[in-house]
Amino acid sequence: MTLTSQLEQAALWLRQARSVAVLTGAGISAESGVPTFRAPAGRAPTVREGVPPLWNNFRAEDLATPEAFQRDPLLVWQWYDWRRGLIAACKPNLGHFALAGLEDQKEDFTLITQNVDGLHNRAGSRKILKIHGDIWWVQCLSCHKVTSDFRVPLPALPPHCSCGGMLRPAIVWFGESLPLQTWNQAETAAQSCDLFLVAGTSAVVYPAASLAPLAKRHGARVIEINMEETPLSGAADISLRGPSGEILPALIAS
Ligand code: OAD
Repeated sequence: MTLTSQLEQAALWLRQARSVAVLTGAGISAESGVPTFRAPAGRAPTVREGVPPLWNNFRAEDLATPEAFQRDPLLVWQWYDWRRGLIAACKPNLGHFALAGLEDQKEDFTLITQNVDGLHNRAGSRKILKIHGDIWWVQCLSCHKVTSDFRVPLPALPPHCSCGGMLRPAIVWFGESLPLQTWNQAETAAQSCDLFLVAGTSAVVYPAASLAPLAKRHGARVIEINMEETPLSGAADISLRGPSGEILPALIAS
């Protein structure tokens, strides 16, 4: 099947679907200039990926675990402050905008994202299940309150809450549980949708990677959009190979 005929078939399924759930990953923001986390082993990032994937140059266990933050909060905050600055300079791309448009078209629509960059919000998506948190949210280690903080750069590192407690990025780190209510909503959407669309994720990080198989077990069609083959590609009903910033607008407009 050519990409054009795959796209036509996928667009037909999307039009027919009453209930749609979408899972996005770092790849959807790659064309905006936000680094992804991982590239296929031994391959340099493509032009579309733009910037080297983060886990090529940094060790997740040094920066994105509760132990790393306990050991060296300043180092972890410096890294997040740098990423916040980088993301603040980026804009949503046509893929983000297409999904915001799809939310308006479908009565039953759920957007689930692993991304913490806030670009879906900036593109106009309203209801977003952020299963890995948000880089623009901070949580106090003492009073546990979560607030938004969009300052770039943060004036003092590590930042502190008005109660005096130290703030941490409200992001799910390796070894931590996902926010329970948000995760339950994501699972419910996967179980009840007719069509599950997956865009720009390597499909290797669990439990997020379990959502598409869950949707499929419950009878949904699964469509994947990715530049590369992933562990999900074989199980997807259609796997569209290419940049989400081009494929999503084509899929949703047609
Ligand atoms: P990854 O960096 O693991 O994967 C990005 C995927 O996007 C790859 O499969 C690329 O082939 C694909 N890709 C790159 N550019 C693309 C484009 N223009 N269009 C479509 N696809 C493209 O990112 P995630 O799967 O999101 O966790 O990673 C999952 C989690 O691992 C992240 O949420 C993060 C990370 O550690 C936390 O921050 C908690």
